[in-house]
Amino acid sequence: MQIKILPNRILISNDQETLMETLIRHHLHVTNICNGKGTCGKCKVRMIGNVSPPSNSDIKHLNNVELQAGFRLACGVRPEEGMVIELNVDESDDRKVSAQMRMKTTTLDPEIEKVYIQPSKPTLEDERGDCDRVVDALNAATGRSYEEANLYILGKIPNILRADKFSLTATVSENKILEIEAGDTTNRLFGVAVDVGTTSVAVALIDLNKGNILKVASTENEQTAYGADVISRISFAMESHENAIALRVAISSTINHLLEKIATQTDVQQNEIYKMTVVGNTTMHHLFLGLDVSHLSVSPFVSVCNRPLEFSALELGLKINSGARIQFLPNIASFVGGDTMGAIVGAPEILGRGNHLLIDLGTNCELFLKTDYAMMACSTAAGPAFEGANLAHGMRAKQGAIEGVRFTDKGVVCEVIGGKEPIGICGSGLIEAIDEMRRTGVINKQGTIVDPKKEHNIAPELLKRIRVGKKTREFVLAYGTSQGHDVTLSQKDIGEMQLAKGAVCAGIRTLIDIAGITFSNLDSVTLSGTFATYLKVQNILNIGLVPDIKPEKIKTVGNAAHVGAILALMDRQKLAMSQDLYSKISHVELGGNGTFSKYFMKSMYLERLIL
Ligand code: FES
Repeated sequence: MQIKILPNRILISNDQETLMETLIRHHLHVTNICNGKGTCGKCKVRMIGNVSPPSNSDIKHLNNVELQAGFRLACGVRPEEGMVIELNVDESDDRKVSAQMRMKTTTLDPEIEKVYIQPSKPTLEDERGDCDRVVDALNAATGRSYEEANLYILGKIPNILRADKFSLTATVSENKILEIEAGDTTNRLFGVAVDVGTTSVAVALIDLNKGNILKVASTENEQTAYGADVISRISFAMESHENAIALRVAISSTINHLLEKIATQTDVQQNEIYKMTVVGNTTMHHLFLGLDVSHLSVSPFVSVCNRPLEFSALELGLKINSGARIQFLPNIASFVGGDTMGAIVGAPEILGRGNHLLIDLGTNCELFLKTDYAMMACSTAAGPAFEGANLAHGMRAKQGAIEGVRFTDKGVVCEVIGGKEPIGICGSGLIEAIDEMRRTGVINKQGTIVDPKKEHNIAPELLKRIRVGKKTREFVLAYGTSQGHDVTLSQKDIGEMQLAKGAVCAGIRTLIDIAGITFSNLDSVTLSGTFATYLKVQNILNIGLVPDIKPEKIKTVGNAAHVGAILALMDRQKLAMSQDLYSKISHVELGGNGTFSKYFMKSMYLERLIL
């Protein structure tokens, strides 16, 4: 069956599959928290023309206006010939992209280079083989020894040599020849740095001759079709070998699609990319490599491998030069992965003298504390609330997401990404809204939305926005969007954020306890993660997401994990630094840790975090 995705994409669906399965198979993303069970209500698409009758799940999760406008849950729709669908996909303003494009870099030493040589032509007096004359010329030009040539290079040499009068360019790294090309192509040397997040994947294309970022692209991790967080992905992988393969394919497919995308948006051919660095949490790292994840989630939480790893693009099925070096930054522990190592490399000031805390906020939150005597790290399951998931009107930080909120006596002023009408709220908007609700008394420090009938000190314009939703009270941030619903924060949404915040704060307190210091001894607190870039220090201090220290000691650094991958791509010393650090950082397991449990409940209060 043929279905059309507006504006101009045609898909062929298979018998028996749902619309969501067709979309995922064609790499078109619909948010999918419940893996197609019809319970999360997130896989909303709009049907144009002939609209299927609403299912029970549609009726449960969509309001009347949405139903009448043709919205349906894609996991409950069977494709039909001629179906026309509108997806709410807009990655062009993804924050992950814009954050990295602003990045400036310094040292350029990528451990990979191109060398132009002009070997002499064979004569009856000089009967050296083609490969021998290439190697001799290369050795003479570099002063190094390139004695090993692989079969791929050997097969190409005769034609390449004769394609441009015995002049060629060799791409070399250490003592290996990765590629040969006819003529002089020394100005074409590229690499990519990849951040494999649980929710989204970002790729940065770098000109390794100049050290500048040419393009950054980001998209949802195709694995989200199989679960929202690392625990559900591990469970899915453990169910069968086929599932584990599906997860592996999903990551390489996500990366390959991003590579295709950046290639079409630049003049760089995928074959001209010779190096890739990868950061990701340990689960993403293992699933990408097809490693067994079954021991990651059960005590004593053992990974297959933490040490730095390297493969070729051919081995991993990545669509760049087949000889390209793919380097993984090392993991620290089962739930503190190469992404944390990337964040440390990307924000190296936290390794300076004194006491420094790094909070890498995402679906999983990693904490790293460095004192003058120790380095330690832990992870807490913050859940997807910071990414805007699991909230009634939560969404990723893209066009239409409320990213900032201000309460006045006249009502609520929302800042919306892209300056458009709000259609949902992202993580930074959530934090700001909750702080405003706390400041104005709409919620108390326990996070409970107050009873509007009993409150007399709240501005009437705010008071009338408190109402009873499907089950509990909710607060209306924005009325009546064109998608037919108000954007609200419910008691449950606030609770989701409190759980996430509670886990982060209890983790911080536990590390600080173990290090034998207090919050006042902290010289800096650095928040990394794309969403952290958009947080306001005052908000996170007020709700107690970070220790109560002077605001000037708190800074946000954007997606430091990806920055670390970019730096490791461009500078071999940065990669070496990560390879040296990983075994020196001690891991603190919070599961079953009495100190963590003791702190968890009281860390959920929306108040300043004091030790
Ligand atoms: S409701 Fe369709 S994926 Fe959750």
